[in-house]
Amino acid sequence: MNTDLLADLNEHLRLEFRAAHEYLAMSIWLSAHDLPGFSVWMRQQSTDELGHANRVIEHLLDRDQAVKLPAIPEPPADWPDAVALVAHVLRNEQEVTASITALYEAAEGAGDRGAQIMLQWFVNEQMEEESSARALLGRLKLAGSTGLGLLLVDQELAAGKIPGTASSSESVPV
Ligand code: FEO
Repeated sequence: MNTDLLADLNEHLRLEFRAAHEYLAMSIWLSAHDLPGFSVWMRQQSTDELGHANRVIEHLLDRDQAVKLPAIPEPPADWPDAVALVAHVLRNEQEVTASITALYEAAEGAGDRGAQIMLQWFVNEQMEEESSARALLGRLKLAGSTGLGLLLVDQELAAGKIPGTASSSESVPV
């Protein structure tokens, strides 16, 4: 594998593990704020992010390439409200999308078909993840960050009624 592409794939792991760590912290905050539907959904997002990191790791192992696990920063433990929390999720996902786009271009430039095929899954996944974060943010802004509106969104999340937020069916390589 091209050495720059290998370094960039290892660096990308930092974003996936950071997202997993932050989404777990968010799930804990949501649970503590009596939003069980939202909390369970966020916990699933955290699990999905670990799956994403594992996809990259498995690809590197299958190709006998070196894996270097990153340090993960301590996640924020508190949020002003649910809108701020989901706005942070959307910014995270946009950052991951930018990294995947750069990785795909690097794989293309290196003529690495295997990496391109692996990364194509992430291209599709990122479109879905940004879309579901935007849909959730829109619902929260409509409903408001407190009281009955927030309870309604929590119930919608528990029922998978917000587009893109139904229970994850990702097959996760572990
Ligand atoms: Fe794996 Fe949500 O980016």
